[in-house]
Amino acid sequence: MIEPEESARGVPAAFEQMLWRYRGEPGMLIPLLQAAQESYGYVPESAIGQISDVTGIPTAEICGVITFYKQFRTKPLGKHIIRLCKGTACHVVGAETIGQVIADDLAVAPDETTEDGVFTYMVVACLGCCSLAPALMIDDQTHGRLTPQSVRKLIRQYRREAAKGAGNSGANGGARSATA
Ligand code: FES
Repeated sequence: MIEPEESARGVPAAFEQMLWRYRGEPGMLIPLLQAAQESYGYVPESAIGQISDVTGIPTAEICGVITFYKQFRTKPLGKHIIRLCKGTACHVVGAETIGQVIADDLAVAPDETTEDGVFTYMVVACLGCCSLAPALMIDDQTHGRLTPQSVRKLIRQYRREAAKGAGNSGANGGARSATA
């Protein structure tokens, strides 16, 4: 992963530039939060404080906005991102069950990250591979024709790799695979 370019104060340059450019224009809170999230991968407490300092908006109000808009995260993403498709084709062949297996196995709800920081679980719209339904992506790899057993196996594989510190290339070498 490419680390964001940082200013002397340790603030990612792109985010700091947004703060500098702020001239009291209304409606800038969301773009500032987006800039923070793009720079850090999430909106850390320090960024909330900086936005509050620059805009004069109380931190409690900023936190309220973050909570309201699902797009914002206040915790870093996991090492691996699981995106489960809940599109129609996947839904009719059991995506709900697959989602339950993932949530139970990882002990997280959608949009949450596991305690150990290995996985972030997300539910998304059609992944564009409906013939592989039910399908999910882990990072940039697609896995299809899932069953509860194959999903548990996949999670175990990624966990093992994460435990070995084997990098982030995923447990499966192919760009696209059907794991029945
Ligand atoms: S509906 Fe799941 S991949 Fe299209």
